[in-house]
Amino acid sequence: MSWSLPTAAATYTVDLAEDGAGLVLQDWSDQPARAWQPAARQGFETDLDRLPSEFSALGSRQVRGADLVLDHGNGLVGARLVWDGDRVDLLQDGPITRLTAVGRDTTGHLTVELVIETSLEHDVVRKWVTLANSGVSTLRLERAFGPAWELPLGPGASVDYLAGAWSREFTPFAIALPAGEFTIGSRQGITSHTFSPTLRVAPLDRPDGQAHGQAYGLALAWSGSWRMLVDAPPFRERVRVAGGVDDEATVITLQPGESFSTPPMLGVFAPDGADGVRRRWHEYQRRWLARDLGPDHRPIVYNSWYATAFDVGQDHQLALADVAADLGAEVFVIDDGWFAGRRDDRSGLGNWWPDPEIFPTGLEPLISGVVARGMRFGLWVEPEAVNPGSEVLFAHPDWIYRADDRPLVTVRGNQYVLDFGRPEVLDWTESWLRDLLADRRITYLKWDMNRPVSDGGRRGDDHGRQWSMQHTEGTDREMRMLHEEFPHVIVEACSGGGGRIDPAVLALSDVVWPSDETGPRDRTAIQHGFLSAYGPHVMSSWVTDEADRLDTEPASLEYRFVVAMAGVLGIGSDVLAWTQDQRTRAARLIGLYQTIRRTIHTGRVEFHGLPADPVHAVEYGSPEQTVLLVYARAARAESVVLAPKTVRTDRTYRLVGTDRQLGGADAQQGIAVPFSLAPDADVVILQALP
Ligand code: DGJ
Repeated sequence: MSWSLPTAAATYTVDLAEDGAGLVLQDWSDQPARAWQPAARQGFETDLDRLPSEFSALGSRQVRGADLVLDHGNGLVGARLVWDGDRVDLLQDGPITRLTAVGRDTTGHLTVELVIETSLEHDVVRKWVTLANSGVSTLRLERAFGPAWELPLGPGASVDYLAGAWSREFTPFAIALPAGEFTIGSRQGITSHTFSPTLRVAPLDRPDGQAHGQAYGLALAWSGSWRMLVDAPPFRERVRVAGGVDDEATVITLQPGESFSTPPMLGVFAPDGADGVRRRWHEYQRRWLARDLGPDHRPIVYNSWYATAFDVGQDHQLALADVAADLGAEVFVIDDGWFAGRRDDRSGLGNWWPDPEIFPTGLEPLISGVVARGMRFGLWVEPEAVNPGSEVLFAHPDWIYRADDRPLVTVRGNQYVLDFGRPEVLDWTESWLRDLLADRRITYLKWDMNRPVSDGGRRGDDHGRQWSMQHTEGTDREMRMLHEEFPHVIVEACSGGGGRIDPAVLALSDVVWPSDETGPRDRTAIQHGFLSAYGPHVMSSWVTDEADRLDTEPASLEYRFVVAMAGVLGIGSDVLAWTQDQRTRAARLIGLYQTIRRTIHTGRVEFHGLPADPVHAVEYGSPEQTVLLVYARAARAESVVLAPKTVRTDRTYRLVGTDRQLGGADAQQGIAVPFSLAPDADVVILQALP
């Protein structure tokens, strides 16, 4: 028995193995499904070890790894899963194909429902598992990963991943894994700056950046602690990628009748290597994860954080707003520092009302001033965090995470985290968010989170080892509430820079802040890594006055703008300190961005070289326009010719800024970059003629 789930360009085909031993991946490619055979027998292996199983349990196999570790609570660990062909359903619903398979442990205590979903409109395969206690006693899930990917590309694999640290997020790394296990994850209660829950896996013989040929992209839609694992067994043709909620701290308890659904695992097959994986993720995130705000509706933000830090004053903010509006900003956002008692990063969190000393009559005068200048108004919040001395902590000292009487850990000066696993904390959070947004003309909210959530556990609570997972479910609930009840509010997700960016947060927010590093040369490197997995339509990027931290080569104002134009442009500079000449140039650059924004947000992204090269470019192509954002070292070679990849041979283009018209085929031969904008940056625009 076999079932085929078509995507836009490929097919995911599964079989039921003999004797109901499990669903197995037959093939996943854009070619007719290849016949599948169990792996050749090796000494010590059981029959089940030879299967490319979608979902495996400890106790079912003897040699290969498990996605499920089940503790029956009576000294017995493991499960023997059996699957019935009559309980596999394939449903067709418009473009969507959904396979549901039901299995059970032979004890009868656990039921497993595995769902695989594809669509003809994109190339992402989405899978998850629901585990239900169908017995009469308590079960504990010591590991409850989602369904795995048995990639047909071994033996061995080359693995690309994104790793980093605060201000160095999304740095690409690659390893060759001829045999062995490789794991990444987060134990911080947030997605983390350390690793991104996304991997690219290709055959081992292509450790060249995987530019061409078959490659797979795998991602986990989860914004809390997590783990992903690549298992390349020696001499085996399938390489397994598994993952799910972190199995170090988390143990899930299922009482009779209770169930747990794993976060979705997402995967794409690309016949065209890293470029193909990137294109497919972008398309999916744009059309399926993101809300439709219209192509121009991720606005240009002015955010005053870099200009003022905690030194917030009403008149000063209005003065900044004056200049920001003149430059062409579309939203004015006050970052940290607007709420009661927030003079530094040691106090105030939790007091979510305007500081009476800064805003004696509330926020209304500032909001009116901003709106009168033709901009929207936005605020920064950090709902999960609280400082000692805040009213909420005074009233509810037990609302923060604390494992019994273990000494409390503060981070970032003086910061604790509210226990979002408690319904009363979520209710309180929802109520102040509603109060804040209900009667005010606030249409932009930046949700920040500046510390790990890693000190929990509840004595005596049956679900106490799920606290970290519950925290993530809590933040998801609050963010969902924002979209549902305040659809006019654009939500920017942030976590001390890029600490919480993953497919789950992309579905609950509108833009994300990839890094606190705004030094433009360092930023190009961060953005390059970001764009390999996440789309430009969500990539918030500001022009600031910050110096680079790692790459200290100076950059022109134009370079800074062209870096920020690569996603959702914003300004974070102290614009009052800008000269008239700088302001004039900035306004012109914002005007330029407005003419290309639609293509940046909706177009196909292609890379020309790497940020470390003397010249590199990022290209964006829509049916109407091709845009090349070009970055050069100060000491670049004089002439640079770039061959656009997104022009169409059946169209004629105008090279914007010149009288030149050229056919798509000619354009593909190469365009000389004039560097007319600045010696170190240029924007080349090819406008398709009707
Ligand atoms: C960290 C964020 O990444 C910054 O953009 C800024 O909002 C600060 N927090 C404010 O505390």
